[in-house]
Amino acid sequence: MSHPGGLRRPPGMRIAIVGGTGTLGSHVTEELRARGHDVRVLSRRSPEHPVDLTTGAGLAAALAGCDVVVDAANSRSAKGAERALVDGTRNLLAAGRAAGVGHHVCVSIVGCDRVPVGYYRVKTAQEQAVAEGPVPWTVVRITQFHELAGEAFAALGRWRLLPVPKARLQTIAAADAARAVADAAERPARLGRVEAAGPETADARELARTWRAVTGRRVLQLPLPLPGALGRALRAGGLTTGRPDTRGTVTFAEWLARDAAAAPERTPVR
Ligand SMILES: NC(=O)c1ccc[n+]([C@@H]2O[C@H](COP(=O)([O-])OP(=O)(O)OC[C@H]3O[C@@H](n4cnc5c(N)ncnc54)[C@H](OP(=O)(O)O)[C@@H]3O)[C@@H](O)[C@H]2O)c1
Repeated sequence: MSHPGGLRRPPGMRIAIVGGTGTLGSHVTEELRARGHDVRVLSRRSPEHPVDLTTGAGLAAALAGCDVVVDAANSRSAKGAERALVDGTRNLLAAGRAAGVGHHVCVSIVGCDRVPVGYYRVKTAQEQAVAEGPVPWTVVRITQFHELAGEAFAALGRWRLLPVPKARLQTIAAADAARAVADAAERPARLGRVEAAGPETADARELARTWRAVTGRRVLQLPLPLPGALGRALRAGGLTTGRPDTRGTVTFAEWLARDAAAAPERTPVR
């Protein structure tokens, strides 16, 4: 089978996916298994390969015999992010080196070094740890997932008011992003970055209107002013990219419509 980049696909590799149960990681797992690779799912609650990035526990056994590591782990708490993503990356790279891993694929965020948010500073530090680390690497920078936008609107709109700032976004379905990560895992280490982004660029306020229309949520959308450097960076499209290496195909509206069809109980009756 030919590779999306024109290369021949490598024969089945053993690939460890840290965070293989998460929003992105579960799609990466499915994608790489469908391509014939031997995939190990690593996470704190993984029954077969329990690991903890923050302490390094379990990594040596879980990485034994692996050709490639994909790091799709995440921490949703601000405090936990630095430990899981920066200290965790150093632990993962050291264990990867000891196990003879030939390629470390790190998932990161488009524009994380352009937008002043604490979590993005952690992602930039994680990328740096990877670039300085002992294992050949590729960083796959991805824009915000449709899943994240959908969750954020649902959480912000739960009191029937939906405050949304002006922000240029290029959201992508996690399943589309996973194909870009799988492509990177199959290719040789790039010692550099590749980017994946959604099929269209839209303002967060436009996305919120789409979310209201498709889900039928009756919420009052309000403008949320975002002053300072953060507001400027978001309005200027700091989280978007003009020339992604991979462009997703599913729009936010299409993804919402599929999501609503798959889980009708989550779509409130008008
Ligand atoms: N969300 C977005 O819109 C977005 C956009 C672009 C890039 N990204 C990047 O994509 C990656 C994945 O994000 P996501 O939203 O898919 O994550 P997620 O759904 O929150 O999943 C996180 C995964 O990491 C595992 N994990 C957490 N702490 C761990 C630890 N200490 N040791 C081992 N495993 C741990 C979790 O499993 P356990 O709880 O079982 O450990 C889970 O499988 C991150 O690098 C993120 O920055 C996200």
